[in-house]
Amino acid sequence: MKRSEINALIRNAMRFCARHKFALPPFAFWTPAEWAKKGHEADEIRDCMLGWDVTDMGTGLFKTCGLVLFTLRNGRYNNRRYPKSYCEKMLVQAEGQYTPMHFHWLKSEDIINRGGGTLVIQLYNASKSEGLARGDVRVSTDGVARRVRAGGTLCLKPGESITLTHHVYHKFWAEGGPVLLGEVSAVNDDRNDNRFYDPLGRFPKIEEDEPAQFLLCTEYPRAGKRGR
Ligand SMILES: [Fe+2]
Repeated sequence: MKRSEINALIRNAMRFCARHKFALPPFAFWTPAEWAKKGHEADEIRDCMLGWDVTDMGTGLFKTCGLVLFTLRNGRYNNRRYPKSYCEKMLVQAEGQYTPMHFHWLKSEDIINRGGGTLVIQLYNASKSEGLARGDVRVSTDGVARRVRAGGTLCLKPGESITLTHHVYHKFWAEGGPVLLGEVSAVNDDRNDNRFYDPLGRFPKIEEDEPAQFLLCTEYPRAGKRGR
């Protein structure tokens, strides 16, 4: 992805959140110059990969396949320094764009439509060989048990949510306008806990065609030895 595109998408996500009265925490707005001055007091943001995450899953086709995410809070598996057992994200899914079919080996997650259009989500159970199983998928939507045939879809209007347990394949897209999504989950480990049905990358390659206005969660400079 081009850096100019990433800059514009983050600015757009900031406006979209503001329009839906979803206030982001201070570090959402830190510039690279501000990051350069941060010491060890910001290590939780670095080490738990909080912050912006703009991805085309390595496809080079962001408008079709991609997502803008912001991680507000997270922990780390087997790390006593960061004991949170939970994660919260904000996601912006544009209309005409999908998040590809994937499941998580460890993470269970609630995906919440917080406003905008309708979120359509397609479901399969993962088979033992991590293919698409034929059996019905059992999920819960806002505390109500549901059964969906393999490959079937559910529509979530603003305010509605779905609970996805691990090993449930999901693909989703927005209809009727972009959707502001929430994700409340167990600890998130994007480097190791995404099983895409089609082999894809989780983070994009970036072409630096202009300076970064905001850093992605994979780009923070480490703090110096002494911290500040
Ligand atoms: Fe997921």
